[in-house]
Amino acid sequence: MTTESKQSPTPESIFDIDNKVVLVTGASSGIGLHLCQMLLGRGCRVVGASRTACESDALRIIDKQYSGNFLAVNMDVSSAASVDAAFDTIADAFGHLDVVINNAGMAAPKRAVNMTPVEWATVIDTNLTGPFLVSRAAVGIMPNGGSIIQIASTGAFKAYVGLSAYNSSKAGVLMLSQTLAVELAPQNIRVNVLAPGYVITPMNDEFLSGPQGEPIRNKIPLKRFAQPSDLDGAIVFFASSASSYITGTCLVIDGGTLA
Ligand SMILES: NC(=O)c1ccc[n+]([C@@H]2O[C@H](COP(=O)([O-])OP(=O)(O)OC[C@H]3O[C@@H](n4cnc5c(N)ncnc54)[C@H](OP(=O)(O)O)[C@@H]3O)[C@@H](O)[C@H]2O)c1
Repeated sequence: MTTESKQSPTPESIFDIDNKVVLVTGASSGIGLHLCQMLLGRGCRVVGASRTACESDALRIIDKQYSGNFLAVNMDVSSAASVDAAFDTIADAFGHLDVVINNAGMAAPKRAVNMTPVEWATVIDTNLTGPFLVSRAAVGIMPNGGSIIQIASTGAFKAYVGLSAYNSSKAGVLMLSQTLAVELAPQNIRVNVLAPGYVITPMNDEFLSGPQGEPIRNKIPLKRFAQPSDLDGAIVFFASSASSYITGTCLVIDGGTLA
């Protein structure tokens, strides 16, 4: 056997993520909350983190349903001290991580010229510095290698008006991820990005169900906004051995809008 060849997974096991330990940031709402449920349903052990995860009623219900396989942790991804403290708790509870989903994020819509430096910094600290701080801490408890999945946005490629800080942060996540992919390859930690278009969540539900929503939806080739579950296939793919030779890439999930 050459060093390049390895045992092929069977068709039954190629998407298997049973028993993987997964950290989901931004777990208290929207995409993150959905992913916690989806991953637990597929047999993962899940850490759900956000600034208010331990106070979240939705996560409390999940905790009751999957007791022993779920842990809620308060973590502010923009604060190194908060991230490091949360990782102590995660290490005590599960010992290691296999998959990290850097999903926590915020938008704070405002045209660039009207933004204060503090408003700008808050978005960048959450959406770009957050994935850096979490990935940096996670590597310390991924001794078996694993997969880091970054939730960016089509804002990484397209100039959505009023979202300069958001677009810039998500474009930054792309290059952070490519660099991490190369730096962490020797440890067999793969780093990939998902770039969703419009997903119906509390972040944008009001905006998309208002008068602005219809013309936006009409421009989407698949003629609908995504639901959080539209990300499931990509998450399972990047978390499983189906993507074992894929790192430093970005998958756009936008119903064809950027095409
Ligand atoms: N919805 C979309 O159309 C869409 C499209 C493309 C990409 N995305 C991306 O998908 C991700 C999730 O968005 P969503 O739509 O599900 O938004 P959401 O419903 O508003 O949820 C955001 C989550 O992030 C957490 N969060 C915010 N700031 C945080 C911080 N400093 N530290 C830790 N957690 C923090 C929030 O929890 P706490 O308040 O408890 O901290 C919440 O759980 C974001 O990165 C977003 O940019 C969304």
